[in-house]
Order: sequence, then structure tokens, then C-alpha cells
Amino acid sequence: MTLDLDRRTIEEAYARWAPVYDAVVGPICASGRRAAATAARSVGGRILEIGVGTGLSFADYRGTAEITGIDMSAPMLDKARRRLASGRFPWVKALHQMDAHALEFPAAAFDCVVAQFVITLVENPEGVLDECARVVRPGGEVVLVNHLYSERGAAAAVERWFARRTRSMGLRPEFPFSRLTHWAEAHPEMELIERRPLPPFGVYTLIRFRRTAARPASA
Ligand SMILES: C[S@@+](CC[C@H](N)C(=O)[O-])C[C@H]1O[C@@H](n2cnc3c(N)ncnc32)[C@H](O)[C@@H]1O
Repeated sequence: MTLDLDRRTIEEAYARWAPVYDAVVGPICASGRRAAATAARSVGGRILEIGVGTGLSFADYRGTAEITGIDMSAPMLDKARRRLASGRFPWVKALHQMDAHALEFPAAAFDCVVAQFVITLVENPEGVLDECARVVRPGGEVVLVNHLYSERGAAAAVERWFARRTRSMGLRPEFPFSRLTHWAEAHPEMELIERRPLPPFGVYTLIRFRRTAARPASA
């Protein structure tokens, strides 16, 4: 059986990634990161980016009202704070070290929650989605971008092989889209409004959920 990701593995992995992340991962993920930020900008207002990492997305939100970023990795966040200290991103209002499984914000605090290359690698993706749905206002959006598991054919076989070898790197490459749809089915207030493979090769997928109604009083 393949071991799943746990918090300690993720923290250790991103402590190792932090010094090289911008150079190694930055360019590979740039198109997906930008597409998600563009979708978030079209919602506008108060935007929460979870798993903000080293803050590579800051420039993508140029002119957006208010960005708050959270990440649980202190080394990744240190780099984001240094980037913010340059003064070039006045729209980024706050950065917090915080676990996306337990967001320290009131319900409906944001117009949009965005997560670039995060949801497939958190310890409990459904738990994090619950938190995203809680802190987004009715009418607001949760925007995700990620590589999703191919599920069929040679690409799926490669990803399964890769999965066994990349846990310690803090990756979960065999994350299927159906996991997101199952989550949405259990949350009728969260409507899937877009699933778009991104150019050039559809390696990354942009996913948007809109929160349609007030959550039940028991939530
Ligand atoms: C692949 S990086 C993506 C960083 C950034 N979004 C980007 O596109 O460059 C994943 C980030 O998610 C963060 N992360 C993982 N689990 C988290 C959690 N439970 N709460 C907050 N951040 C988390 C990691 O520390 C890391 O910075």
C-alpha cells in the first residue's frame, strides 16, 4: 500500500523545497498559477490564497483589492515575506503562518479563495475544501489549479509509479478529479462552475466552485 501524505512529511518536504523552489518549480507552474490568479481577480475584493508558498503569485494579482496569503511552512513563508518587503506588491495585505485545515478567519470573510498547486498535496484535501467553503461568502468562488491524475492509460501508469517515489517530496500525483466532484456532491452550496484544462498541453486544470447559498445553520 502507498503511504499517504501526513503533516510532518509535508513540512519537511517544503523546508527542503524552500531554497530552490522559485528556480526549480516556479517556471514549470507559472502558467497555472497565473490562470488561477486571473480567475480570482475577476471575482475581486478580498482574496485569500492558501498555500501561498514563496509568494510567486504576488505579481499576478496586480491591482487587485486585497490579498491575504497563508502557508504552514515557515521556510516557504519567510521567502514570501522577503518578497513582500520589496514594496512592489501593495495589494498583498497580510501573510500568516496557518494550517489550511483550520483557517483562523470568520465564515464568509473572503470573496474568493484560491489555491495553486496545493489541494492535491495537503494532508486532508476534503477538510481543506470544507474550510475554503466556510470562509468564502455566498456568491464568492473557490479557485483551484493543479495537475490531476490522468486515471487511464500510460499517463496514469506513470503517475502511479511516480506516486510511490514522491511522497517524501510532498507530492500526491495520483489525485483524481472525482475526489473534487465527490466533495462537491456532499456540499450542495458549492457549485462546480468550471473545469478547464490549461494550454499548452492540458497538464494543469483550472477548477472553479461558486458558493451559491448560505450554509446550513448547523455548519
Ligand atoms: C507546491 S507548493 C505551491 C506554492 C504556491 N501556491 C505556488 O503555486 O508556487 C504547496 C504549498 O502548500 C503549502 N501547504 C501544504 N499543506 C498545507 C496546509 N495544510 N496548510 C497551509 N499550507 C500548506 C506548502 O507549505 C507549500 O508552500
